[in-house]
Amino acid sequence: MSRIERDVVVIGAGASGLTAATELAKAGLSVAVLEARDRVGGRLWTDDIDGATLEIGGQWVSPDQDALIGTLEELGLETYSRYRDGINIYLGANGERRTFEGDIFPVAPSTEKVIVELIERMDALVAEIDPERPWAHPRAKELDEISFRRWLETQTDDEEARKNIGMFIAGAMLTKPAHAFSALQALLMAASAGSFSNLVDADFILDKRVKGGLQQVPLLLAERLGDDVHLNAPVRTLRWDETGVTAVADGVEVRARFAILAVPPVLISRISYEPPLPRRQQQLHQHLSMGFVIKVHAVYETPFWRDLGYSGTAFSPYELVHEAYDNSYHGDPRGTLVGFVSDEAADGVFALSPEERRARILESLSHYYGEQALTPVVYYESDWGSEEWTRGAYAASFDMGGLARYGADLRKPVGPIHFSCSDMAGKGYQHVDGAIRVGRETAAGIVSALVAA
Ligand code: FDA
Repeated sequence: MSRIERDVVVIGAGASGLTAATELAKAGLSVAVLEARDRVGGRLWTDDIDGATLEIGGQWVSPDQDALIGTLEELGLETYSRYRDGINIYLGANGERRTFEGDIFPVAPSTEKVIVELIERMDALVAEIDPERPWAHPRAKELDEISFRRWLETQTDDEEARKNIGMFIAGAMLTKPAHAFSALQALLMAASAGSFSNLVDADFILDKRVKGGLQQVPLLLAERLGDDVHLNAPVRTLRWDETGVTAVADGVEVRARFAILAVPPVLISRISYEPPLPRRQQQLHQHLSMGFVIKVHAVYETPFWRDLGYSGTAFSPYELVHEAYDNSYHGDPRGTLVGFVSDEAADGVFALSPEERRARILESLSHYYGEQALTPVVYYESDWGSEEWTRGAYAASFDMGGLARYGADLRKPVGPIHFSCSDMAGKGYQHVDGAIRVGRETAAGIVSALVAA
């Protein structure tokens, strides 16, 4: 067991922890980053699977994500646009296949009218929400007591409109069923992206990708930190008092003035605290849980859908794969589709054998793109639910009533222990942008505490 002393120990080498460590080092403080896995990046993981470069975790960058864009520029990373030329596909209730351009799905005119009205209503409500303090909205408690599904039912009788609006936040973002989170949590999700219209706009929210993969961000940040990043070092125990902390990890123990817990909130309680965390934290961490989604990658000899005039963008609230896109990797002449199977649908296919699951998922893709979708040359399912150091995807959200009740305390430091994670962000919530934003803010908080001391 090696024993070292630093100003700050950062637990978790994801985008958030590594950003915090980088900012602290820039401010002249010494740091040690302890990472449980044998790699850095956490939910950012770019890997070669059977000869194809795949983004197993996060990948897209949207134009409002200025914290992430700033980091990409600082690290000299280049971006490229997601392929999106051509027409999009929508599958209706009876599997009826329709094509469309723009954002609004080709539904019956009466349903389209309701969808447009709902988007406007959501935008108006979202404009009232400060993503940094959603609990401060005058109706926060009331909006946190009603599930998003129920709230949508109070807005319209049109089921297809509800399913589509619900899908943008439930299946596509929080990756939980719309009955499992509140209307306030849904509004935070939209506010974190600037507006509900932004979330609905795939060309906005899924705009750019990074050449070499988004894991380049944590990899390059870690490279600059050098030997201060310790892999295979899961922190098991954190001893703390007002004078500082001792983080005990496998093979290494770090004594520091401050700790930053840069892990998903669901993993905070996996560490033993001596003394235990205060009552409030022990309670509030139980009210956050990870969403659950399978990100499916299917690589084909050619991007055959482009020849048919399709952009690759496809949606259906009635399909196993509720959304799919052209995800061809920069410079690879082959074509890649990425599709998502969310929450209860993901539970359903994980009850099947791997072969049956693959067949069901590819069949769903074929409903959009035709028979050619059934025979990829590479097929891979990102399964974050079985990753011990993540336990779901994309991120954590509160249960019903949890955001109004506990949100304000989520990032409040406990003595020398600070918290940093995308799942605790306001702007950029659940995204790499939020991870970086919170990382910077947490580091700045520690620097000013040290200046004040
Ligand atoms: P993250 O979870 O990445 O890092 C925490 C680190 O702590 C991990 O490395 C973990 O191993 C470590 N750890 C945990 N417990 C520990 C312990 N006890 N001791 C030491 N280390 C410990 N975002 C986006 O902007 N665009 C996108 O397109 C997507 N898409 C997407 C797809 C999929 C499939 C996933 C899973 C996620 C996304 N996201 C995304 C979300 C994005 O990837 C995510 O919000 C951030 O990468 C989270 O970064 P953090 O550093 O906050 O946590």
